Amino acid sequence: MIRIENLSLWYGADRSLPPAVNNLSLEIKKGEFYTLLGPSGCGKTTTLRSVAGLEEPQLGEIYIDDELVFSDKKQVRVPVYDRNIGMVFQSYAVWPHMTVFNNVAYPLKNERPRLSQNAIRDRVMNALALVKLDGFENRPAPNLSGGQQQRLALARALVREPKILLLDEPLSNLDAKLREEMCVELREMIKRLDVATLYVTHEQMEALSMSDTIAVMNQGDLLQESSPLEIYGAPRNSFVANFIGKSNMIAGKVASVDPAAGAKTCVVETSIGNFTCRWLDALEVGRDVTMVIRSEDVAKLKPDESVNVNGADGTVGSVLFLGDIFEYWVSVGDIDLRIKLEDGDLSPGDAIRLNFPEERCLALTR
Ligand SMILES: Nc1ncnc2c1ncn2[C@@H]1O[C@H](COP(=O)(O)OP(=O)(O)OP(=O)(O)O)[C@@H](O)[C@H]1O
Ligand SMILES: [Mg+2]
Repeated sequence: MIRIENLSLWYGADRSLPPAVNNLSLEIKKGEFYTLLGPSGCGKTTTLRSVAGLEEPQLGEIYIDDELVFSDKKQVRVPVYDRNIGMVFQSYAVWPHMTVFNNVAYPLKNERPRLSQNAIRDRVMNALALVKLDGFENRPAPNLSGGQQQRLALARALVREPKILLLDEPLSNLDAKLREEMCVELREMIKRLDVATLYVTHEQMEALSMSDTIAVMNQGDLLQESSPLEIYGAPRNSFVANFIGKSNMIAGKVASVDPAAGAKTCVVETSIGNFTCRWLDALEVGRDVTMVIRSEDVAKLKPDESVNVNGADGTVGSVLFLGDIFEYWVSVGDIDLRIKLEDGDLSPGDAIRLNFPEERCLALTR
């Protein structure tokens, strides 16, 4: 449905500088919810705007629905209005001189065959109901709150029932509760409409909860493309591990590897002790690695409890109450670790005995 091949885009003329999007390839199937996730400036919006036809990359090809809409080699440049897409811009861009109703009805003006007034009304009211803006149709668009304007932009993108949806942080201005509701509804809506969706966010929870596939980007590069579970449980490198979830990263070296055939563990020597870790790629002894463990995966042991492997003693530095969980900073040797625990009975200065469950420790190459 959307296929991008070897896309590169430089904003400046100097091609010796790093591009905003670097040799990016990806494919999004019909009905698939595909998310680009990455820090500010990594090239998400640029990718989206290239698919829409609003930016012109220097290299690569883009297919929509098996139709070639952009190719530098073949000199193909299908204009924006001929690509059947619905788009929500990061700045949501509602038309200020129109009512809510007319904003949503606008993209239907050029529908062929022409729609009757009643058909337009039905389509607009359906789209408004989808985003919970029914009742607002006669309000001038600027008199909506930021979150409402964002939902209006979403209704406008959906009203033509496009084959492809490009959504650039469409929920960023909603409050936490509404955002959660919209996450669920947006995903259901996309599945129901069976549209290929390219979604952009830098919110990892949004990406993890809604996506079929997540592509993590950094500095124009696509670093890993996987299901949410895989991105979370088996990050391929330390950038992905650190970006998704709050991970502890501890520098170390492979001290020994499990000699059993097909084994996938090694012992990593760090400044705070030796730890048995899983690996994704086979590692050799002496290799510099980063040991990664998520803050919620570190366990607290009782003061007199000991474990054979992967234990450590530390001191509580600070405590943060997060509503349903407590987040502690714990010093272990020269390293500060972030851990999450359900009990809030520890105070700064208290001793704490930790366990890093072997199956939760991952050794990644640096
Ligand atoms: N019109 C432009 N002219 C020059 N440089 C640009 C332009 N638009 C974006 N850039 C640069 O290209 C890079 C990628 O920008 P892009 O807008 O794609 O990032 P993003 O991932 O969408 O970030 P954010 O999460 O902040 O929206 C950034 O370094 C940005 O400064
Ligand atoms: Mg952006």
